[in-house]
Amino acid sequence: MPSTIPAIAPPTIQAKTNIRPRYTAALRLWHWGNALVITGLLSTIWFMRVIIDVRGLRPKIRELAAQSGITLSLEQAKAISKLVSHRIWDYHIYLGVALAGLLALRVLAELTAAGRQRFGYRLRQARAEAGAATLVKYSYLAFYLMLVVMVSTGLGILYADKVAWLAPWEETLKDIHTVDMYLIIGFLFIHVVGVIANELTKRRNVTSEMIHGGALEEE
Ligand code: HEM
Repeated sequence: MPSTIPAIAPPTIQAKTNIRPRYTAALRLWHWGNALVITGLLSTIWFMRVIIDVRGLRPKIRELAAQSGITLSLEQAKAISKLVSHRIWDYHIYLGVALAGLLALRVLAELTAAGRQRFGYRLRQARAEAGAATLVKYSYLAFYLMLVVMVSTGLGILYADKVAWLAPWEETLKDIHTVDMYLIIGFLFIHVVGVIANELTKRRNVTSEMIHGGALEEE
């Protein structure tokens, strides 16, 4: 009698339901857009202060004018150098307005994300685990605050000659704007070093997750 081979049921592939990206498309768009715009903004300052060195141009302008027999006052040389800086400031302002738009997108991304995709959730989770991740999440919180300060002081400087009550604050706003730039540079340095350290040790795919979104399995 032929032996009957018991039928073996094929392994069932458990369908993974409710898989959401760890980072929403809006957050990823904001992240890379923000990186691009901040790089552009820092480049305008780099051009103005280092590559072109607008202030250093003034004595040069006077020197060249003197070689052609024209005597220029420091104020006149300053006015000519401003022709160059105005061009760069225009780009700074376009990018600054773009940064303000991106900040609004970030708020929208947080409000429309599902619970576990929210920064607020990740912060609470990191606090509960009380590890190094808490410090990282707080550094992001500090960065969001820096962005709010940068955008509001930038818009304040932009409208200082149009809004009467802002005018007396212009110099203070410029000082805060500049100090905030150094804080942002400090954050970016620590952030990039942190990402590289993560890629080399624990989570090897943090950068690609910020590109394709990663996967977050709902419980
Ligand atoms: C990472 C972002 C930014 C950096 C690093 C940055 C940096 C700077 C620095 C160093 C100055 C010179 C301040 C001074 O004269 O003492 C400046 C001026 C200015 N920034 Fe920003 N800024 C940023 C974002 C913004 C934003 C979001 C706006 C908003 C539109 C903005 C608008 C301006 C304006 C209007 C000025 C004055 C330009 C002028 O003197 O004609 N900036 N910025």
